[in-house]
Amino acid sequence: MTEAPLRWGVLGAADIASKAVLPAILAAGDEVVAIASRDADRARQLASILGIAAVYDSYQDLIDSDLDAVYIPLPNSLHLPWTLLAVAAGKHVLCEKPLALGALEATAMRQAAQNRGVTLAEAVMYRYHPRWRLVRQVIRDGSLGSLRHLRGTFTFSLQPPPDIRWEAELGGGALYDVGSYLVNACRWLVGEPTRVLAREHLLHGVDGDGSMLLEFASADGPVSAELAYSFVAAEHQQFEVIGSTGSLLIPKPFTAWHGEAIPIWLNESPDRPPRAIPTPAADPYREMVVAFGNRVHGGPELVTDGRDAELGMKVLDAARRSLGSGSWERLDGVLSPES
Ligand SMILES: NC(=O)c1ccc[n+]([C@@H]2O[C@H](COP(=O)([O-])OP(=O)(O)OC[C@H]3O[C@@H](n4cnc5c(N)ncnc54)[C@H](OP(=O)(O)O)[C@@H]3O)[C@@H](O)[C@H]2O)c1
Repeated sequence: MTEAPLRWGVLGAADIASKAVLPAILAAGDEVVAIASRDADRARQLASILGIAAVYDSYQDLIDSDLDAVYIPLPNSLHLPWTLLAVAAGKHVLCEKPLALGALEATAMRQAAQNRGVTLAEAVMYRYHPRWRLVRQVIRDGSLGSLRHLRGTFTFSLQPPPDIRWEAELGGGALYDVGSYLVNACRWLVGEPTRVLAREHLLHGVDGDGSMLLEFASADGPVSAELAYSFVAAEHQQFEVIGSTGSLLIPKPFTAWHGEAIPIWLNESPDRPPRAIPTPAADPYREMVVAFGNRVHGGPELVTDGRDAELGMKVLDAARRSLGSGSWERLDGVLSPES
């Protein structure tokens, strides 16, 4: 039996909403029935393009309206309060990444959703892209041997202020914006790290540029990661997984989108050139919305649920502690079930 489409509302006429997530909701066969914005004209414009029936000038009015799910693409510092309000009104919530500004906030959000019996997910869309299934398959198949090192970059040149990413009080900075993807990918492949060392360069009052070392314990010995993220560097986005016998290179790991079928590169021997493994083009935002709807209707747990976001926030918290202490900061270091 086909499940009823979800009826969505969105808080804010955000760039990512209009560019990617609202079109993905429609492509998934769901409905966007309401938008709320501080700027009614902008919201009406978007509503007319996407056929959204209701426009609110109050986020709370949208939350209180007749909807199944709320998508929250607000500045990072507003994820906690608006998620709690939407959950309290009995709505399922898809909230943008990073879910929160710390593990305590993420725990409160996860527990509130659990207590209210609604689905909460962090919109870490890349995890739904089929090319990452291939990445995980290559690792599981043993083509790389035992994992040893991960290396990731996510850098780009952000226009000078104003932008929510340059606003400290809105939860800006490169760690939350792009570094969070790199930490997310490491955790997905290896599990939770045991310790973290981070550095940053402050620009306009936020970490405009940063890097981080992570260490993981695995049954086959320690695994390390080296990550760089920036608002003031050339566009560079790459992830490498280096094992005891082979390595895998993933170009454009996080934002491969419609029409982009970008291969991953497997290097199994120093005597042979790397081999391209083709990966399919897909819209990871649509895949994410489909998985969210399935979960709401009783389907499988999401790979970006509140618990995963909470664990991810613990790593970002440790990175921030390291920025203060200048030293390695320890974590629990739980291995993923598959590592
Ligand atoms: N998953 C992804 O691929 C992806 C990509 C980009 C960004 N993101 C995440 O999505 C969120 C939004 O990013 P964005 O690039 O779309 O930002 P954006 O275009 O600046 O949108 C943020 C929206 O928040 C609302 N807002 C409420 N209070 C605000 C305030 N004090 N200052 C500024 N805006 C305020 C505004 O909507 P109204 O004025 O209409 O009310 C604004 O349109 C962030 O959490 C970011 O990390 C995710």
